[in-house]
Amino acid sequence: MDISVRTVDPTRQRSECYIVAVYDEGSLSPSGTAIDKYSAGTLSKLLKRGDMAGRSGQKQFLYDLPGIAASRVLLVGCGKLKPLSDTQYRTLIGGVIQYLNDAAIKEAVCFLAELEVETRDSSAAIRLGSEVVVHQTYRFSQLKSDKNPSQPALKKFTWHVAQTKQLTAASKAARIGKAIGQGMALTRDLGNLPGNICTPAYLAQTAKKLGRTHGMQVRVLEQKHMQALGMGSLLSVSRGSRQPPKLITLDYRGAKKPGNPVALVGKGITFDAGGISIKPAAAMDEMKFDMCGAASVLGTLQAAAELKLPINIIGVIPSCENLPDGDANKPGDIVTSMSGQTIEVLNTDAEGRLILCDALTYTERFKPKAVIDIATLTGACVIALGNQASGLLGNDQALIDKLLRAGKHSADRAWQLPLWEEYQEQLKSNFADMANIGGREAGTITAACFLSRFTKKFKWAHLDIAGVAWYGGASKGASGRPVSLLTHYLIEECDY
Ligand code: BES
Ligand code: MN
Ligand code: ZN
Repeated sequence: MDISVRTVDPTRQRSECYIVAVYDEGSLSPSGTAIDKYSAGTLSKLLKRGDMAGRSGQKQFLYDLPGIAASRVLLVGCGKLKPLSDTQYRTLIGGVIQYLNDAAIKEAVCFLAELEVETRDSSAAIRLGSEVVVHQTYRFSQLKSDKNPSQPALKKFTWHVAQTKQLTAASKAARIGKAIGQGMALTRDLGNLPGNICTPAYLAQTAKKLGRTHGMQVRVLEQKHMQALGMGSLLSVSRGSRQPPKLITLDYRGAKKPGNPVALVGKGITFDAGGISIKPAAAMDEMKFDMCGAASVLGTLQAAAELKLPINIIGVIPSCENLPDGDANKPGDIVTSMSGQTIEVLNTDAEGRLILCDALTYTERFKPKAVIDIATLTGACVIALGNQASGLLGNDQALIDKLLRAGKHSADRAWQLPLWEEYQEQLKSNFADMANIGGREAGTITAACFLSRFTKKFKWAHLDIAGVAWYGGASKGASGRPVSLLTHYLIEECDY
């Protein structure tokens, strides 16, 4: 997708389609007013007929307006003349893209950057809008025998800005939005691929490929390396599977000067059947999405590398399957983590924390200035926050505040939950240093409490993305979240 920004003269700039806002009761946006004037009042005449009242979501094609260089104008109802929320704006742009796709339009010029969006200047709106354009033209058809019919026609999208002095900032915003959208597309592809294709080895290959394309060093630790490092917790999860585990690291060095990296650690369970504490059959297929944390690390690194962000980032991805087997973890088994702490595995389905704890200990060696882990960790988080926000916890309030802010800027929100000392008691084990579960209450918090015992040596935040990483129901599929949040955090971190 080609996304660009220019100052468009509607009497000269040829296009298949202009996209123009109309407000409630048929009032026009500034560009609409200009186009109306150049076309000798054609727009206002049509609006007076009342077919198009400007109600939010309404759309109407007009063809061959006199004096206008585009062969079509798409009028888009934007409701009352008042600032839109992020969600309203996103729905609006998404709806426009779908409409263009239905009409097989290949190229369009969009005059919607003049819409007012709450708390966003026009660049921030273009950034989010560009992300939506890429998001909305995403298709996952690689495993269908008929690949073509669903491919969107739209290939070129131009934002109009009124003033040339806005061009630099707006172009940068479009570039960021597009890079994020494409990073999300990688994350979605990996999430959508089934467990029999997207294995730990597949994630490792994808990381290697990303490394080759963008000059990142990628290393893949095999089982024997992990054994030598003493990763008894991670390896205990993998024992029930025929797929060899992988611990993938990606090293992106974008900073001008050497400096400590930000570490992104992503849960990469390529299928989670629960192990011996097996899950119920209903919706178990969705546990192919249990590697979306890992996929979001890859998507974010792709976006960061694409933008050449001047920052150092380490991606760390522990990856394996969680399956029942004669050799799998059993409830009551006690394993020794790389940190030396022992863990009683009371429920083999609480496997994410068992692989993350060793990956987090391993991350110490990179002397990270901040560590963010991303994981589809608990069903409890879906109960607490639904599909709106990622759960956010950690040991450094300044880091958490940055992530909360990045979540707002990117419309990819997170919400903080407490990590009070008192919750730690729930992890008490009679036989080991800790249990891997803390009972039914506060499940997201006790999972983070568990991780907190492995993150004492650095500033750390944990994003539980169980509720946001994929859509359910008819639109079942990976969402690409929280690539946008993470990329915005990195952008802020390096003053890009
Ligand atoms: N991958 C799941 C968490 C999950 C469940 C994410 C449903 C999204 C939807 C995780 O490995 C898991 O099974 N967690 C258990 C923990 C429990 C045994 C303490 C859970 O949430 O039920
Ligand atoms: Mn599980
Ligand atoms: Zn899991």
